[in-house]
Amino acid sequence: MELIAKINKLKAVVRKMRGAGNSIGFVPTMGALHDGHLMLVKKAREVADTVLVSVFVNPIQFGRGEDFEHYPRNLSHDVELLTRAGVDYVFAPAIEEFYPKDFDTYVEVERLSEPLCGKFRPGHFRGVATVVAKLFTIVEPDYAFFGQKDAQQAGVIRRMARDLKFPVDVRVCPIVREEDGLAMSSRNASLSPDERRAATVLYRSLCRAAALVLEGERQAGRVRQAVADMIQAEPLARLEYFEIVDTADFQPVAALQGGVLMALAVYIGKTRLIDNLLVDVP
Ligand code: PAJ
Repeated sequence: MELIAKINKLKAVVRKMRGAGNSIGFVPTMGALHDGHLMLVKKAREVADTVLVSVFVNPIQFGRGEDFEHYPRNLSHDVELLTRAGVDYVFAPAIEEFYPKDFDTYVEVERLSEPLCGKFRPGHFRGVATVVAKLFTIVEPDYAFFGQKDAQQAGVIRRMARDLKFPVDVRVCPIVREEDGLAMSSRNASLSPDERRAATVLYRSLCRAAALVLEGERQAGRVRQAVADMIQAEPLARLEYFEIVDTADFQPVAALQGGVLMALAVYIGKTRLIDNLLVDVP
């Protein structure tokens, strides 16, 4: 495993790999790695000759008052985990090189970025699309791996790659959960023991919502109310949104049919968590 910080060094390595006919599998991350990230690495290992993981806490995807400064960082531990996972290269650029002072170019996936998290985190997906576009340009991956955990992010990136003709196969992998159902997230580390217990309410309410639909409920409004009630009943939790949306454009659906995405964002204390479930309406 080789740790690379400089963009030009990384590009030289990429040239060498491609010259040798190796395919490149890429997993972009913000570090503080857990089994969700490592599952993406495993998928990359399965299909690509060379596996490259970026670790970069991207400032431009954090809004004012969000947790950029307090986002967990532990590069040496991440490098250890990635070495054990058989990763070939870790790219951890410095902010100053990645975003020079007069950096002025942004990528915006307009409509897909509007609903769900986009409504509450203005500029977030613009920051994500921009950093991933720049990473794709530097890394030139054949395959790139993202988690369904951030379903809207995956949709935004897939659209960006298609619209801008990045020659990359974007693959979205299933959510990895703790035993009690909580979706793994770097942010789970900031939960107190009581908050950690309360955080199971996200997955529990998604399962309840899915059960209602499987029992025959077809009105999104009634499912939404049931979820709102469940979150309300958990004193440490505050619902930001719960939506049932179309899987292609993330727009809310009123009458449930076909495949839908149930997605929610909930504050547990000061920590904002998201989760989602794909449901096939019978
Ligand atoms: P980060 O939150 O570190 O996540 C990196 C990748 O891991 C994302 O594709 C995310 O969806 C995936 N992931 C996180 N938790 C997961 C889980 N429990 N199961 C499956 N996959 C999971 O997402 C980002 O970083 C950034 O926005 C990034 C794309 C790197 C751009 O800065």
